Amino acid sequence: MGIKIVSTGSYLPDKVLTNFDLERMVDTSDEWITTRTGIRERRISEVETTSDMATEAAVRALGESSPEEVELIVVATATPDAFFPSTACKVQAKIENKGAIAFDVSAACTGFIYGLYVADSIMRSKGVSKALVIGAERFSKIVNWKDRSTCILFGDGAGAVYLESSEEEGILGFDLGADGSYGELLAVPSIGSNEEFPYYVRMKGNEVFKVAVRTMVDSALRVLEKTGLSPKDISLLIPHQANLRIIRAVAERLGLPEEKVFVNLDKYGNTSAASIPIALDEALRSGRLKKGELALLVAFGGGFTWGSCVIKV
Ligand code: ACO
Repeated sequence: MGIKIVSTGSYLPDKVLTNFDLERMVDTSDEWITTRTGIRERRISEVETTSDMATEAAVRALGESSPEEVELIVVATATPDAFFPSTACKVQAKIENKGAIAFDVSAACTGFIYGLYVADSIMRSKGVSKALVIGAERFSKIVNWKDRSTCILFGDGAGAVYLESSEEEGILGFDLGADGSYGELLAVPSIGSNEEFPYYVRMKGNEVFKVAVRTMVDSALRVLEKTGLSPKDISLLIPHQANLRIIRAVAERLGLPEEKVFVNLDKYGNTSAASIPIALDEALRSGRLKKGELALLVAFGGGFTWGSCVIKV
């Protein structure tokens, strides 16, 4: 039995916050942000909660498929609406599904790959045949809008994939891991810590940067080796959209030319766990990724966590 990504969907809030808007909020410039990150604007959710965005992405991914038949809902998020119920349970109620297994996965920007891995494992071992995996974030709520070193980076949004068991194999392999000793470099404290509120993103950007490039390349090479593939077999690299310089460095080390690398962070910034499913949805809808082609998904995030996956669409 194989598992196939049958369809995808994404949702971005309407409100656009440009680098020029940020110039009026903190001591920064469009030139600095564009040169250092590649980001030009991001979307900000004014009213939609994380579960609202996740639900809309899921509904778009489901298309004509029946929400009632979904047996598993996994939401990757670092910005859930509530500690509990989980965002996945909220999505379940909103799409009017009853009975599916529903839970959230927390692995920061790698969350979607972790979620896909968990769903893939449950589907293969437990005979579950229809699943939704969603990445959804409302980072605008945990960003300190007075901290220019972080507030310029993040945005809100959601992306979803609908998976079904099938004759054809659509998920060829994974490489996942974590190294908790780097935890302090990128963190959002919570009520279980001894730190003071509020919960704001803290990041040692340039230290994260160096580890991110090395770790993403190593993980990508491992998943290629596990699947018996080489970079030239890959039609499109869909990396986590954190920083254009990170993406370019990773692509260069994998020997992938620009036309084989998907980038949309100029429009959305870093949407954490939502970034890969949003990019995958756009790549499929725009025809950058075509039926039968192989895509390499690679993510890196707080934890540190990392993950890669090769899919055949
Ligand atoms: N505007 C203008 N100047 C700024 C800004 C800003 N928005 N932010 C920082 N600066 C200044 C700094 O104060 C510093 O000034 P100084 O030299 O006088 O001290 C200077 O710019 C350079 O700062 P650096 O932090 O060294 O800049 P760097 O080139 O490293 O870029 C960035 C910063 C964009 C954050 C980069 O380090 C990065 O992208 N890091 C990785 C982020 C990432 O991948 N995160 C992982 C996933 S996120 C997740 O898991 C939730």
